[in-house]
Amino acid sequence: MPDGNGAQLHEKEKLAELRRAWEDRPLGAMIDHILDRYHTPLHRDLPGLVDKIGSARKELTGPARELDRPLRDLEELLRTDLPDHLRAEEEALFPRIRAHLRADESRAERGEKAAAPAGGGLRSLGRIQDDHNQIMDMLIALHAENVLDRLPETTPAGDDHPLREDLKRLVGDLREHAFLEDEVLFPRAVALEKRLRNGTS
Ligand SMILES: [Fe+2]
Ligand SMILES: [Fe+2]
Repeated sequence: MPDGNGAQLHEKEKLAELRRAWEDRPLGAMIDHILDRYHTPLHRDLPGLVDKIGSARKELTGPARELDRPLRDLEELLRTDLPDHLRAEEEALFPRIRAHLRADESRAERGEKAAAPAGGGLRSLGRIQDDHNQIMDMLIALHAENVLDRLPETTPAGDDHPLREDLKRLVGDLREHAFLEDEVLFPRAVALEKRLRNGTS
């Protein structure tokens, strides 16, 4: 198992690989990938995960009770803030980016100058980035308090604790998901919008 520095390096390499994989691919395909790889599994898994966190909080004993507060904060984020965030991307931001892509494609077909699509720009982007900062703050707090490693190894009934692996997977996926959006998708969408607004090809 990699040590702390090794794990960080591994994660950096993984994110760099993701950037290389997606920085030149079509934006529409990238949105499809984000929906399939991250949003759909979250919609499917979040309710069960929230229930598991609620049960785990009730079972904390001794020094592990200190984990109740960070787990409660995480439970709240996963119950309401994260689903709201996913919906805001699916219903507002991603459709706007696709509208920009269609505007770009049709002007290229007609040989016209670039022009932004009707209906406003990427207005919800600021709110989306605030959400990402909130999610990242939560992940940083979980890491700082070493919550995942301090979860009990087993449940009171002696079974492997169901939360440890689930939460490790969630944290890894959220980091990749936010990275792809913040570092690749959004800057490329903003550049596209600017190009359409400026009428440059
Ligand atoms: Fe997303
Ligand atoms: Fe997001």
